[in-house]
Parts: sequence; C-alpha cells; structure tokens
Amino acid sequence: MKQLTSAQIRQMYLDFFAEKQHQIIPSASLIPVNDPTLLWINAGVAPLKKYFDGTEVPDNRRLANVQKCIRTNDIENVGYTARHHTLFEMLGNWSIGDYFKKEVIAWAWEFLTSERWLGFEADKLFATYYPDDKETPEIWKQQPGFIADHLVAVADNFWDIGAGPCGPDTEIFYDRGQEFNNLAADDPENYPGGENERWLEIWNLVFSEFNHLPDDTYQPLPNKNVDTGMGLERVVSVIQNAKTNYETDLFVPIIQAIEKVSGVDFASAGDKQVSFKVIADHIRAVSFAISDGALPSNEGRGYILRRLIRRSVMHGRKLGISRSFLSELVPVIADIMGAYYQELTEQLAFVQKVILNEEERFHETIEGGEAHLNDLMASLKAEGKTVVPGAQAFQLYDTFGFPLELTVELADSQGFTVDQEGFETEMEAQRQRARAARSKEESMQVQSDLLQNITDAFDFVGYETLVTNATIKAIVLDEAKVDQLPANQEGWVFFNRSPFYAEMGGQVADSGIILDGDQEVGQVLDVKKAPQGQFMHRIKTGHMPLTVGQSYTLEVDRAARLKTNQNHTATHLLHRALKVVLGSHANQAGSYVGPDRLRFDFSHFGKVTPEELKQIEAFVNQWIANSANVDIAEMSIEDAKATGAMALFGEKYGDVVR
Ligand code: ALA
Repeated sequence: MKQLTSAQIRQMYLDFFAEKQHQIIPSASLIPVNDPTLLWINAGVAPLKKYFDGTEVPDNRRLANVQKCIRTNDIENVGYTARHHTLFEMLGNWSIGDYFKKEVIAWAWEFLTSERWLGFEADKLFATYYPDDKETPEIWKQQPGFIADHLVAVADNFWDIGAGPCGPDTEIFYDRGQEFNNLAADDPENYPGGENERWLEIWNLVFSEFNHLPDDTYQPLPNKNVDTGMGLERVVSVIQNAKTNYETDLFVPIIQAIEKVSGVDFASAGDKQVSFKVIADHIRAVSFAISDGALPSNEGRGYILRRLIRRSVMHGRKLGISRSFLSELVPVIADIMGAYYQELTEQLAFVQKVILNEEERFHETIEGGEAHLNDLMASLKAEGKTVVPGAQAFQLYDTFGFPLELTVELADSQGFTVDQEGFETEMEAQRQRARAARSKEESMQVQSDLLQNITDAFDFVGYETLVTNATIKAIVLDEAKVDQLPANQEGWVFFNRSPFYAEMGGQVADSGIILDGDQEVGQVLDVKKAPQGQFMHRIKTGHMPLTVGQSYTLEVDRAARLKTNQNHTATHLLHRALKVVLGSHANQAGSYVGPDRLRFDFSHFGKVTPEELKQIEAFVNQWIANSANVDIAEMSIEDAKATGAMALFGEKYGDVVR
C-alpha cells in the first residue's frame, strides 16, 4: 500500500478528475442556500440539485470537488463506532447528462487500482449493485483485474435521501481482511456490502435518474446523471491502515491535543476513548459550521451546534476537564485542514471566540443547576429521602438546560439516585404538549383552504398613494364566504386594490378607515397576506354593512404609516451599525417594525457590551443627523445584489425587489 496523507489523497482525487476534463469546484458552504429541505449540506450532490433537476445548466457538465458535509441523524452513535461522524468530507464527481455507467465505473476502477493513483490491489475490492440493474455487473466484469465473483446484488442499493436526485447505485467495498471483522460468521451483516468492519464501503456511484419530490413522488430527471461520493475519512483509514477513522492523520493531532489538556493517555484510556472521539468529532463539525456562519442558538442549526458543544463539554468532564478548553482545539483543526478550507483559517479567531463564549455560558448553566440540585438534595436528605424526583430532574433539564446524565452523576456522588422513569414521563408530557400545539397550527390549514379558493385579482397601490377607491371582491366571516359583512361585526374583506400594507417581514400592517362617500363605515384593524397573494383586511363595521360588489374609499392612517416608515428605515441603520461595531456576522434574525417602536433580533455570540451599545447608538444617530438619503428603486434581485444590497438567505424574494 502506498503511504499517503489525507491532504495528498484529496489532491490526487481532484487531479484525477481534472485529467478527465472535470471542472473542479470549491466546497459549498455547509449552510444550504435556497433549500428548505435541508438543515445542512449532507452530501456533495446537495448543493448541485439545481443542475440535476434542470433549473440551471452548469458551464461544464463534468464536475468534481471535495465537499464538507454534516449529518446529524446519528449523533448518539458518534464516538462509539469506528466511523460515524457529524462532519465528514466527501470526494465526489458528477455528470450532468454527460457520461454514465460505463465511464464512471471504469474511472473509479482506474483511480482505485492504478499505480499512478491509489494503487489498491484488485482482489481487495468488491462491488454491490441494484438487483434490477443488469448493466452494472457486466460493466464491472469488464474492468481489468476485477474478480467476477466479487459482485453482490443488494436490494437497498438505491440512493435516496427523501428529497432530490436519486437512483440505483453501485457501492465499492474494500476488504480489510478477517482480522478486522467485528461480526460472528453467521451474522446477517457479515458479507461484502453489510454493516461490518471487514468490508468497508469506500465509494458510492449513484446513477441518478429520478427526482424525489417533497410530496413523495418520483419524477424522471431531464438527464441521466452520475453522482458519486467517496468518504475521505474512510479511504484515509484504509491507506493509513488505521483501525478506526480516529487513528488517521485527520484526527490524531486533535486526540493528542485532548490528551494534553486532560492528562489522560488515549491508548490506555479504555472506555474513556469514546470521550476523546466524541470531542474530536464534534469540535470539527462545530468549527466548520461556525466558520460558515452558523451560530449556537436554541433552534434549528444553532441548536445542533449548542448540543454538540454541550456534549463535548460533558465528555470533557468525563476526562476530568472542568475548564473551558474546546476553543483551544480549533487551531489544531486549522493546522490539519485549513490549507484546503481557507475559510477556517481566515475565521479562526472568530470561531474560537464563539466556542469559548458558548462553553463558558454552559459552565455557568452547570454551576447554576448544580447549586439548585445541591439545595434540593439537602432538603430531601432532611426528609430522609435519597431519590431525586423525575419532575425535579426534568425541571433542571428543561429550565436550566442541565443534562439528565449530569444530574445522575452528581446525585450519585452524594449517594442519591434519580427517578429516571419519572423524568421520561415528564419528557413525554412535554412532547404531547408540543404535538398539541402543532395540531392547532394544522387546523389553521382548514381555514386557509377556504382562503386558497379566493382567486380574485388584486393590486397593492400603497407605495404610490394612501387613499383609493376599491371594490369588494369577497368577504369571509366566521370561516365562511358571505356576501355581506353586517353592521358591528368583524370579518376579512378582499378588495380589488388597496393602499393598506399587509403585515410582512416583521413590519406591522397599516391601520385606517373605510368610507362610503364621506361617511366612515369601517375600521381596518389588521391586514394579512392571503394564500393567493391578495391583502385581506380585518374590518370592524360601524352602523352599516359592507357588501360585495360595492365600491368604497380606503384610507390609510397617514401619521401611523409615516412612523412605521421611519422605524423601518431605522432598522436598516441599526443593522448596518451592528455590522460595523460587532462584525459582519451580526445578521438579522427577526424584527418588529410598527408605528410605536422597532425591535431587531440579530445573531451574535455573547452580550453586547455597554461600550459597543454606545457606539452603535452613535452611528445610527450620526446617520440620522446627517440626513442620509432614503432612495427607493425597484430592480432585479441580481442587480440589487450587485449594488451591495443585503439579501438574507433565509428570506424569499421575488424576481423584482424594492
Ligand atoms: N450522493 C451519494 C452519497 O452520498 C453519492 O452516497
């Protein structure tokens, strides 16, 4: 076997496919762009879906790269197995309607076996295929040196992750020899193609012919494509003859750094080796995710980062580390991988700061929870009890963010046990509550079916005028369509046009009145966007009914609109000032803009200091004092971005933006 470093293997792969006329593209960010189906980029193909489904045509129909990926469906397994990871690197090459099975199998074989490239021995390699796919085994048999009975039909060789390009695949396995086998001879997984440590899947070649749509149907793709993925960590483990991925040059320096901090020797750590592995795995994922702009928080991606950091802290405690240490591992990762992933090197100081801050906050949580638990145990002891009730353990978990395992550990150190069953009962009750809240949301769906069917055309004229005549097209009262909204009633009214701005992107709706001639006949309490895009007005009538087909005058409260405008502009100034003072990561995370006030949520690690707050305030006030211009223009989203306009990836924009 050749001796190669992980960096050499990465480069070799790219060189090989460059020679085969592939365009080498950079690794995409771990944070998906315009893809609500994914929390993280989880395969090389994920950022390329647009090419597979035909919405965009690539400049070159042959692409290859090394893609950083995060998969979090299996966090609990990480550290306990030889190769589960949250972050991993996928070497991939793609054909977008260019080459197909014959070429890609021949190239895979050449890359793996040629002395110029990896130089694996042919008799170590096996291939699985989809039973209905008769071509693939024939192509394998044509490869020079391929052993014909190293072919295995496997029924689930169909790569499909629920949404996006998918199709039958052929997977390549490397036989590490019987000494690596971790299974009994009669174990059903003990074969080349099964889940075992002897035959290691190293490369998956997918013949991507279908698009799995969100409604669970399969649509043929415009082209026959190829999507391959080779796990870098696995190939490196084979080449470096490492028992697990953690014993390769991708991980050893991190493990060594943890040895230094903890004073525990990895080789003789026994069960505690798991903690080394968990920390080494998680800190990689966390570092890369933060360098791509994710930040720890209480939901979505941010929550995953928080969980990974907290799990790492907990495993650090198992190794006797009680101080914040995770941020010290980031430079080690940058040493290993930073030459290829420059974003990590460039953001090093920032990534460390975020991790340190999060870790310190968790330590505070632990201290707070510990004090609470100690008080609790003292009073239980006074009553002669030695069991921490489930409800109390749950409260610690739910309100202090205190992990159950920590409660158990601390209780144990004082001779207490924890009612874990009671904890589970509380947990289940919480899940029920969450479910109930969700089904309430779903019941709103019923109403929106009614609204869905209102398809009358609508014009928003509120940028040009605050008063207009308009005709009522539809009225919804108590979840039914009616022809008249009676006197002294509240209902939703659809007009053919309106100057009233609907609640959107944090900005509250306009308020105002409805007139018949010069008589006020209704108050506009709220305005929302209906499913078909019209603005629907929540109107309270006075002493007269409103009738479908009749015309009225719609008049926006001018003073309130002006104040809302001012607060809206102020959010832009504030956003800018936040970026100047805190850094470019301070992105909008939500907002409220009304006539009364504004609120602006943004992502930042840690507290804004009083000095920073003063600076932010000074910037905003200075721009206002200078009477900075507010220029309004409509343009295509591309042109807007070219002018430097800030587009938030989480937001949906139309083709024309204002
Ligand atoms: N997209 C395929 C995989 O992730 C190659 O295995």
